Amino acid sequence: MKLKICVAGITGWVGTPLAKSIMNDPALELVSGVSRSFSEPNFEGVLVYPSVLEAIEQHPVDVLIDYTHAQYVMQHVLTALENKVHVVVGTSGLNGADYNRIEAIASKNKLGVIAAGNFSVTATLLKVLAQKAASVIPNYEIMEYSSAKKADAPNGTSRELANALQHLKKADLITPIEETLGNKESRGATIDGVQVHAVRLPSFSSSNEILFGMEDENLRITQHAGASAQPYITGTLLAAKKVKDTIGLTRGIESLLF
Ligand SMILES: NC(=O)c1ccc[n+]([C@@H]2O[C@H](COP(=O)([O-])OP(=O)(O)OC[C@H]3O[C@@H](n4cnc5c(N)ncnc54)[C@H](OP(=O)(O)O)[C@@H]3O)[C@@H](O)[C@H]2O)c1
Repeated sequence: MKLKICVAGITGWVGTPLAKSIMNDPALELVSGVSRSFSEPNFEGVLVYPSVLEAIEQHPVDVLIDYTHAQYVMQHVLTALENKVHVVVGTSGLNGADYNRIEAIASKNKLGVIAAGNFSVTATLLKVLAQKAASVIPNYEIMEYSSAKKADAPNGTSRELANALQHLKKADLITPIEETLGNKESRGATIDGVQVHAVRLPSFSSSNEILFGMEDENLRITQHAGASAQPYITGTLLAAKKVKDTIGLTRGIESLLF
């Protein structure tokens, strides 16, 4: 039987090509989409509703995939879980407290949520390689470069990377931030104990970098994604197919890749 999917954010930069990929996947059925401003009854032949609640009440689905906005994603996840729907979260902007809450509710309801700050395969490999390097080199900082219009900062990839590294080994700061002279903010934001620097400029799409420093040598691991949403679609579809077999919150897709 095909897995029934609703895409929240179906008219968006990621949502539109994602919807087309779901329609072309023989294991999946795109049942509905969500967009507040889309005025037609359907988009590319798929029923579109102005809210997640209306979409899943009108046509039950197995999985909600969310690519909307940082401000609304938490409500969408909670609505899905209250209605016994598994969730794949692509939208960035959730923080540690949000994830703890999602984990608790999903586990209680015996539902799966897979959330990745970056569903791309190369970004996932960046995380895996960074974890290996951090287990050897404790001095590291994260840089992320996104488009000038990105609303939230830092991006989901760097938040997730910082979180994964913090669980492995705390980053060492040779000069503590509070002892920095001049503008302390220039040392970036401390996310899960790791310094993260976010750049917002025209012509940048999405690049993520981690820098490791040792005495007289350093290592940089950099991942770049181009202007299309294609890098995120393969991982999102993989997560949509696996999320029904999970319970609670899974962050990142590395456990699905290896
Ligand atoms: N995890 C990853 O790999 C990954 C990759 C790329 C992007 N992202 C993240 O995914 C999110 C979406 O990115 P995007 O570039 O596709 O954004 P976008 O082009 O602005 O599209 C957003 C979509 O969400 C809909 N939307 C916004 N607010 C909504 C609400 N309250 N209820 C229902 N629908 C709503 C919009 O339609 P209406 O305005 O008509 O409602 C639109 O369809 C961002 O947070 C971005 O950072 C994550």
